[in-house]
Amino acid sequence: MNNEKYHINTKNVPTFYFIGVTTGKSSIMKVFPLWMKVLGREDVIMEGVDCKIHDDPEVYRQAVAQIKYDPNSLGALVTTHKIDLLSAARDMFEYLDPYALITDEISSISKLDGRLEGHAKDPLTSGASLDAIIEKDYFAKTGGQLLCFGAGGSAIATLLHLVNKTDKGDRPSKFAFVNRSQGRLDHAKEMVSNLKTDIEIEYICNADPKVNDGIMEKFPPYSVIINATGMGKDTPGSPITWEGKFPMNSVSWEFNYRGELDYLHQSLAQVESRNVKVEDGWIYFVHGWTQVVAQVLHFELTPALFEKLNEAASSVRGK
Ligand SMILES: NC(=O)c1ccc[n+]([C@@H]2O[C@H](COP(=O)([O-])OP(=O)(O)OC[C@H]3O[C@@H](n4cnc5c(N)ncnc54)[C@H](OP(=O)(O)O)[C@@H]3O)[C@@H](O)[C@H]2O)c1
Repeated sequence: MNNEKYHINTKNVPTFYFIGVTTGKSSIMKVFPLWMKVLGREDVIMEGVDCKIHDDPEVYRQAVAQIKYDPNSLGALVTTHKIDLLSAARDMFEYLDPYALITDEISSISKLDGRLEGHAKDPLTSGASLDAIIEKDYFAKTGGQLLCFGAGGSAIATLLHLVNKTDKGDRPSKFAFVNRSQGRLDHAKEMVSNLKTDIEIEYICNADPKVNDGIMEKFPPYSVIINATGMGKDTPGSPITWEGKFPMNSVSWEFNYRGELDYLHQSLAQVESRNVKVEDGWIYFVHGWTQVVAQVLHFELTPALFEKLNEAASSVRGK
């Protein structure tokens, strides 16, 4: 018997939780019922669990206990609290996947044969998104490199994906993190020190957008420039200024799809003058959610099924 508290699922229906901060504002609230229809699982409902940033460990343990012990609670997608939740409730999991062990975070909580499982899906999902944005052999064909503003969970996940690419042409020669605080860079460095890679990794501590302009301008044509800072959604502004010049023919990827999205607008302003290809975080959102829904509901996410789910999600985009 467990000692953890959890509420009885009074609705008595299969429930998929979304553990985040402002879950009600996410597009998933509109998308999820459409997906359940596509999957023939209209019995499953979505419930948001809003926690404060760096919440009390007990709050995270209760959210995990809910899923672990209530048969109607099927699992959850976790954002923002990926590291804090795992550190508060690690002992409650019977299985953690290899990426969760490397990154010390989880984005998926699910159950299989009575055991509670945690998966870190970000390396798969940011990777699948990047693969949809750039073609095979992109880095060998173009000589582009990768510059990532931010060194948080999603930035590190993107690096892990590239490190694990088996063909050299799919790995950039250089990956640079630029982060506001040194702590995250040290954490990234420590994680990477256990990996074998021929990618040159640079760690730059900086929060001055003007300095970031200069860093970005030194990157070769066709480089991939990422905004993984959350600026323009979680916090105001952009990591670069309006004077910053993107490398010619570069790919600019903003990880978010909602908010002020200043960086996205700065990128769009250089589509013609510098032939910048611009992507927002929508495809990342769809990959992220479909992977976790497949893990929790135990179905195979084939490319055909992904397309159906992507189509259903697109039908409510921006509404
Ligand atoms: N579309 C999607 O489905 C999707 C999926 C994943 C992530 N995202 C978005 O991507 C963003 C990042 O996610 P995450 O999980 O990686 O978040 P995170 O772990 O909080 O990382 C954000 C990082 O950016 C750094 N940062 C903030 N402002 C900066 C600046 N001005 N210059 C340089 N670095 C700066 C932070 O540094 P400090 O350590 O100093 O705070 C932190 O390390 C979030 O906004 C998230 O919503 C979207």
